[in-house]
Amino acid sequence: MRALTVEPGRANSLRLDERPEPAPREGTLLVQAVALGICGTDREIIAAKYGAAPPGERRLVLGHESLGRVIEAPDGSGFSTGDLVAGVVRRPDPVPCPACAGGEWDMCRNGRYTERGIKQADGYGAERFRLRPEFAIRIDPALGVLGVLVEPASVLAKAWDHIERIGARTRTWRPRSVLVTGAGPVGLLAALMARQRGLEVHVFDRHARGPKPELVASLGGVYHYGGVEQLPDLQPGVIIECTGAAAVVAEVVQRCGSDGIVCLAGISSGGRTLDFDIGGFNRQTVLRNDVIFGTVNANRAHYEAAVAALAKSDPAWLSRMISRRVPLERWAEAFEARPDDVKVVIDFGAGPAS
Ligand code: BGC
Repeated sequence: MRALTVEPGRANSLRLDERPEPAPREGTLLVQAVALGICGTDREIIAAKYGAAPPGERRLVLGHESLGRVIEAPDGSGFSTGDLVAGVVRRPDPVPCPACAGGEWDMCRNGRYTERGIKQADGYGAERFRLRPEFAIRIDPALGVLGVLVEPASVLAKAWDHIERIGARTRTWRPRSVLVTGAGPVGLLAALMARQRGLEVHVFDRHARGPKPELVASLGGVYHYGGVEQLPDLQPGVIIECTGAAAVVAEVVQRCGSDGIVCLAGISSGGRTLDFDIGGFNRQTVLRNDVIFGTVNANRAHYEAAVAALAKSDPAWLSRMISRRVPLERWAEAFEARPDDVKVVIDFGAGPAS
């Protein structure tokens, strides 16, 4: 079968390879790939800045934003042939740590987790892959190809879950507005979930033009754009930072209102230093009871929350987030960064899920 593979640590080594069929020990569910979403993490792996091959291997099957159709499922697995599924990205560490043992692998404490398509486990960028039923998420067939957004949405479902748990430290926490920095797929999904909670939404991005302003406006949000000096001065109750850009991070950690929560969800490449008044920052954070926290990945409950959030969203809006659907044969085009791209998806030509 065909699979997109990469040699982590060697830049631009991505290619379409011939690979053996997935081994039955990888899981009892055999899944035919329908679509694969591409994200910044994939680009970082291709640029040799991130990622690791499975132990003993040089190459890694890329891809972690999956959508597939079950083609083999044993009785009692809870799945049937024809079901649309997405695969969970992370697998618990082998120790396991208390978090992984309790199904909260997204909070792994010893860092020995693996991630399909990212860290030491082959991903979903193959014509067929296998899943253990506990790592398969059923997708409402009504979502069709939009089910490919479940994995990125799961990351934001976790972010919101944790924001709300932190907010619950006071009985009176009722944020009115949210600022999201970055209008890529992660930022847009953060904004969507903010609107679903009835909050006033502001989204900040570098780009003045392209599809992002309209996507934010049709959510009922306000779009702000420009360099970091144009970041609106709003003092919102919640900030969700999705750019990972050092200059933006340094600003937003100081920009929420009293009792505010800043959620850092963008992964920076590191190595950038800035002048930063740490004492002034500390003084303000303490005197305002602010919380700044990081979040990554998602557990099963978050995937399920993501499915529910997408199911109650406007499918026309979600479709506009998918800028391009590129057939597997033309895979290289999917990795070209084009100015109007929001989410690019590789289409495995596995029939209708549109
Ligand atoms: C994925 C997460 C993953 C993270 C770090 C993100 O792109 O969506 O599932 O945990 O990268 O590897």
